[in-house]
Amino acid sequence: MTEFQAFRVVKEDNQLIGRIESLTVDDLSQGDVLIKTAYSSVNYKDALAATGKGKIIRNFPCIAGIDVAGTVVESTDKRFKEGDSVLATGYDLGTGHDGGYSEYTRVPAEWVVFLPDSMSLFESMAIGTAGFTAALCVQRLEQNGQIPEMGPFVVTGATGGVGNFAIDIMSSLGYEVVAVTGKQESNQLLIDLGAEHILDRHNIKMDGPPMEKGEWGGAIDNVGGDILAWLTRTTKSWGNIASVGLAGGSQLNTTVMPFILRGVSILGITSSGCPTAYRQPLWERLATDLAPKHLDKIVTNTIDLEGLPDTFKKMLAGETTGRTVVEINPD
Ligand SMILES: NC(=O)c1ccc[n+]([C@@H]2O[C@H](COP(=O)([O-])OP(=O)(O)OC[C@H]3O[C@@H](n4cnc5c(N)ncnc54)[C@H](OP(=O)(O)O)[C@@H]3O)[C@@H](O)[C@H]2O)c1
Repeated sequence: MTEFQAFRVVKEDNQLIGRIESLTVDDLSQGDVLIKTAYSSVNYKDALAATGKGKIIRNFPCIAGIDVAGTVVESTDKRFKEGDSVLATGYDLGTGHDGGYSEYTRVPAEWVVFLPDSMSLFESMAIGTAGFTAALCVQRLEQNGQIPEMGPFVVTGATGGVGNFAIDIMSSLGYEVVAVTGKQESNQLLIDLGAEHILDRHNIKMDGPPMEKGEWGGAIDNVGGDILAWLTRTTKSWGNIASVGLAGGSQLNTTVMPFILRGVSILGITSSGCPTAYRQPLWERLATDLAPKHLDKIVTNTIDLEGLPDTFKKMLAGETTGRTVVEINPD
C-alpha cells in the first residue's frame, strides 16, 4: 500500500508530540470523500492544537490542520467525482478527525465545498478558515443591520490572519476601518490593506466606567478579554461587535449597560460550527463581492510540512503576521 507523509500529533508519556509520519490511507479517519491534498494553512487554532498549548485535539493520534484543499481521488457520495477541486474547513478537521497536514485527507461529504470557479486551490487556502471567518462576520453583521454610515469600524488583532481579511473586506465594503494592533512596525501594511486609522493596543485604557463616549459603529474582535470589554464600553448605539477570538484572553468583564442602554450587540462567530448550508454560498461570495483584494500582501509565508513547528512557535509568541500557506502537493 502506498505510503505518504502527514504531520501527526501523538500522545506519549502524557506529552503531545507533533511529527511527520509515514502513513497509508487505511490510517486515516473514515469519510466519504478522499482528497489528494494540494494545500493547507496555519491558523492560531492549529498552533494551539499541535503544540498542546490548547486542549483542542480530542482523539490521539490525530493529523493536525483545520483547513484542506485539493482534488477528489474517490468518493462514495455521488455529488463528488474524481478530479473535482474541493476544500473543507473546520468541523472536526484536525481536532477530532484527521486534518489537512497530510498528502491525503478523508472527510464526510457534508464537510466538502466545491472550489469556486474563479478561485485557485492556493487562493482557497490563502483564505482558509481566517478568510472564511471574516466572511462569516460580514454575513452576521449584515443580518444584524450593520452599515458603513453607523461610524468607524474597529478590527482588533489587525495583523493576524482574520484581522487582515477583516480589514481588506470591510474597507472594500465602504467601512472606515480602524485597525487595533500591537505591532507598530506593521502600520504601513494595515494601511495598504485598507485601514484608515491605526490604534496601538498598548495605549488603550483597559479599565473604564461601564460606558464611555460612543466612538465605533461596530467591530470585529479577534482578541477577547480586556479589548472586547473596551469595545462594549465604546461602541455607539445599535452597533454590532463580532466576537471571533481569544488571542488576548477568554474572560469578558463587562456590564449589561451597553446592551440595555445602547442596544449594542455581541455576535458570536463560530466558523468550525458554521452550518453546512451557509458554507458554499459564503465561499462563492469570497470569490465575488467579498473577494479579498490584497491576497498577495496577506500571504506572508509558504512552508512545507517540515516548517510547521517553527511557524506554530512564532504564531503563539505573537510574532507572525498575515497568513501562512502549507504546500503539500502544489498544483
Ligand atoms: N470563532 C471562530 O470561528 C474563529 C475562527 C478563526 C480564528 N479564531 C480565533 O481568532 C483569533 C485570531 O485568529 P488568527 O488565525 O487570525 O490568529 P493570528 O494570525 O495569530 O492573529 C492573532 C492576532 O491577535 C493579536 N494578539 C496576539 N496576541 C495577543 C495578545 N496577547 N493580546 C492582544 N492581542 C494579541 C496579534 O495582532 P496585533 O499584534 O496586530 O494586535 C495577532 O497577530 C484567535 O484567537 C483564533 O483562535 C476564531
